[in-house]
Amino acid sequence: MQNGSGNMVNENTMKEIISRYPAEKRFSLAIMQDIQRKFNYIPREAMEAISEYLSIPLSKIYGMATFYKALSLNPKGKYVIKVCDGTACHIRSSMVIISELEKLLGIKVGEITPDGLFSIETVNCLGACALAPVMVINGEYYGKLTAQNIAGIIESYKEVKVQ
Ligand code: FES
Repeated sequence: MQNGSGNMVNENTMKEIISRYPAEKRFSLAIMQDIQRKFNYIPREAMEAISEYLSIPLSKIYGMATFYKALSLNPKGKYVIKVCDGTACHIRSSMVIISELEKLLGIKVGEITPDGLFSIETVNCLGACALAPVMVINGEYYGKLTAQNIAGIIESYKEVKVQ
């Protein structure tokens, strides 16, 4: 089956993860955390399967997926790029950084690249305003960004993958 970004969601892998746990409601969060780790988000198909397996209404599963910060309803890339659009960064042209990233990766904020490598999000203040404009990629901070130095940063992540 296909998710919104065109990536395949492996149904067998999903079922295998779910069936590792006894069919008891108290394991719902643990199952969702495992699904999140595997797919980097909670596919709708997984929510349906968990709902059925644990006899929990789908609306409850959906509620959990939106409540817990560690869970995501949208596909995320292997590398999650969080661009700060807080006040300090905004004043220092974070919009230029965002549009440059969108151009480089061919996706918009909230989307994932077709190879599953990158997704872009915007956040409010990463607590490093002195370095504005700032972005974080999987916990790694990059400050004083310019439209020129972004391409090199993105390339370095592509190279990591090739190794
Ligand atoms: S506003 Fe961007 S780090 Fe604070």
